[in-house]
Amino acid sequence: MARGFWPFGPSATTRDRRYGATATTRNGRHVLVLDCGGDVMTASGAAPLLEVRDLVTSIKGRKQDLHAVDHVSFDVGKGEIFGVVGESGCGKSMTALSILRLIPANAAITNGSIQFSGTDLTRLSNGEMRKIRGNRISMVFQEPMTALDPSFTVGTQITEVIHAHSKVSKDEARERAARMLDRLGITNAASRLDSYPHQFSGGMRQRVMMALALVMNPELLIADEPTTALDVTIQAQILDLIAELRRDMGLSVLLITHNLGVVHEVADRVAVMYAGEIVEIGPVQQIFSNPQHPYTQGLLRSMPYLTERQDRLYVIPGRVPELRAMPTGCRFAARCRNRIDICTQQHPLLEENEPRHALRCFNPMPYVD
Ligand SMILES: Nc1ncnc2c1ncn2[C@@H]1O[C@H](COP(=O)(O)OP(=O)(O)OP(=O)(O)O)[C@@H](O)[C@H]1O
Ligand code: SF4
Ligand SMILES: [Mg+2]
Repeated sequence: MARGFWPFGPSATTRDRRYGATATTRNGRHVLVLDCGGDVMTASGAAPLLEVRDLVTSIKGRKQDLHAVDHVSFDVGKGEIFGVVGESGCGKSMTALSILRLIPANAAITNGSIQFSGTDLTRLSNGEMRKIRGNRISMVFQEPMTALDPSFTVGTQITEVIHAHSKVSKDEARERAARMLDRLGITNAASRLDSYPHQFSGGMRQRVMMALALVMNPELLIADEPTTALDVTIQAQILDLIAELRRDMGLSVLLITHNLGVVHEVADRVAVMYAGEIVEIGPVQQIFSNPQHPYTQGLLRSMPYLTERQDRLYVIPGRVPELRAMPTGCRFAARCRNRIDICTQQHPLLEENEPRHALRCFNPMPYVD
């Protein structure tokens, strides 16, 4: 389908209005505008487990509130691995923390909805959220070394999670914790329950974090940079494990990473975030074989390739704009090779480019590898 082709004629159908999509005419052609969501946000086939719509998470500023997450919409299907990529400061963690209502004290969700299995999480009380957290949705945090408490054994920390969400005996909880550690490849799991976090290697601590997140058999795992601090072998093992848990337990995963290689390895679909917004979203195969947004193209060019000798890695020039100095036009304009006049004058909307693939760009360029 050609870019911007409106597949249902010039007027929005009921279905498209429901998803917040609108039809409009630009440069003499009809385009499907998806800024509040749309079919392109949804998983193929599988019913969505998580539906984030038009999410805004604001940080209290001295003069005004700043949008760290700015009208973000996406779905994670049942059994789907959905990747979120982007440079540092683009709003990936803040999006994840918003879902679990673990945002910093100076931040607040100021718009949108987060439907999980048909319940809007933004409307739940703190007590209701606590029941969901660690039980139906769990998270592996970006910094595992700080997320584990050094003063308690690993067994105590895992069984605490089990006791918080289920009524089981101490022995049963220990057994369950040991089974989980064993499943995650920790040898002599039962005896390792009595070890403290500092007695584990970095890779093993990451597995303990995964055990804490998975021991209640959650429906959704949010993994924020789960492999960043790990060497490539352990990284590959953790990724295999995530893929295995999806296959065996039907786990849905929201996988946040800087690393496009990680997304390529395990994810089904991916959203590329830039300066608080989604700038491109679609199936991983499509985004990797035919990236259209200049930012996605830059991220791909900056990926190291094991098969090719590269003296210097490509680096996208410039940096992500600060929240308090967000440009009114395209937020990527200052760094973009394809910039045209309109880019600095108007804010591009997220538009469908081909089925299930959307981008936010006035002048996308064909990708030349
Ligand atoms: N507690 C806070 N107070 C003020 N601003 C914050 C706070 N936490 C995050 N931010 C800002 O919110 C924006 C999004 O941050 P976020 O942590 O979501 O980025 P990220 O994409 O996860 O980056 P990284 O890849 O470095 O983890 C950034 O501009 C960041 O500076
Ligand atoms: S809208 Fe313009 S400046 Fe922004 S990414 Fe597209 S071409 Fe570049
Ligand atoms: Mg982060």
